[in-house]
Amino acid sequence: MKYNIALLPGDGIGPEIIEQGVKVLNAISDVYSHQFEFTSALVGAAAIDATGDPYPDDTHKVCMNSDAVFFGAIGDPKYDNNPKAKVRPEQGLLRMRKKLGLYANIRPVNTFPSLTFKSPLRQDIVEGADFVVIRELTGGIYFGEPSGRSEDGRTAFDSCVYTVEEIERILKLAYDIAAKRNKRLTVVDKANVLSTSRLWREVAQRIENEYSDIETDYMFVDNAAMQLIQWPKKFDVVVTENMFGDILTDEASVITGSLGLLPSASVGVHTSVFEPIHGSYPEAAGKNIANPIATILSAALLLKSFDLNSEALAIENAVKEVIDQNYLTTDLNSDDPKTTEEVGTKIAKLVKESKSIQYAS
Ligand SMILES: NC(=O)c1ccc[n+]([C@@H]2O[C@H](COP(=O)([O-])OP(=O)(O)OC[C@H]3O[C@@H](n4cnc5c(N)ncnc54)[C@H](O)[C@@H]3O)[C@@H](O)[C@H]2O)c1
Repeated sequence: MKYNIALLPGDGIGPEIIEQGVKVLNAISDVYSHQFEFTSALVGAAAIDATGDPYPDDTHKVCMNSDAVFFGAIGDPKYDNNPKAKVRPEQGLLRMRKKLGLYANIRPVNTFPSLTFKSPLRQDIVEGADFVVIRELTGGIYFGEPSGRSEDGRTAFDSCVYTVEEIERILKLAYDIAAKRNKRLTVVDKANVLSTSRLWREVAQRIENEYSDIETDYMFVDNAAMQLIQWPKKFDVVVTENMFGDILTDEASVITGSLGLLPSASVGVHTSVFEPIHGSYPEAAGKNIANPIATILSAALLLKSFDLNSEALAIENAVKEVIDQNYLTTDLNSDDPKTTEEVGTKIAKLVKESKSIQYAS
């Protein structure tokens, strides 16, 4: 079957890690006889440099005309270190999410048995942790208006805004995901302080009655930040607003051992986007040292969205194998580090071999 995939490598390590993801997708197309047609487009600082716009109309057209978007990362120190810059790479990411209607970001957090010793947390705490964070992606403080500075520049403000409809749709998606897992949902908010969180809780307490087979509990975000680290195994599905989800999932990455391991899928109204949860890691750009696994696992999520589940499993098994063999980049193996390219090539090779093993058996 033929699939059109938009490639948005972005900035920093984005192009290097997307290259490895494409290598692995090409291995899948070779052995499973699918046709992946890739169309590259600009986003982030790379797009600002070329066009002055972090999410050009041409890029949006490519995304809208594709079956999936495979995204690297955006961000560049020349903007991070210049808070006065009016056009910023992050605006490209936020605009893409808004225009594609990507209201839900799904972030699975799993541990790999041979890596649990790399976690700064005790092995018995992290072993077997397996949960999903559903982060609301197009509302809240990252999008709320008004946002800006007072005329004299001495006061800055952002607005956190949520509507009942926005909360309902993300909660329903979270309940659907919980129904296919261990039937437990934790709603994370800050209802003791924030009005938007009180609306989240009010809506959640109403919707909870429609899902009586799912066990729902409520947790303030500060408590959740602590419990995720102390008892990660108690969580199954966590649903929360935009900024809380952003922060909690970076925190959750220490459970797995590296930010370079966590993939994500953003879904909504139009084309879905598959991307690692980390940023453009500018210190590593061009050095061939970044971990490509989060991106490669995002490619597996992309295949699952096409219902290509055996193909996705082939990628996940190949990733597990490189991890078991300690064939890893410096973030996870500083004694004998492999390059970004070596890890990508090895995973692609294992994907090809897994198919020939299936044929032989
Ligand atoms: N979705 C996105 O595109 C996204 C997300 C977060 C941050 N950003 C942007 O990325 C830039 C850098 O931000 P940051 O430094 O806060 O976050 P970052 O995720 O880029 O890096 C933080 C740290 O995580 C580790 N890390 C990240 N990716 C890794 C990988 N693939 N392999 C190994 N280690 C990895 C590194 O130790 C790195 O110093 C900023 O411009 C920021 O705005 C973009």
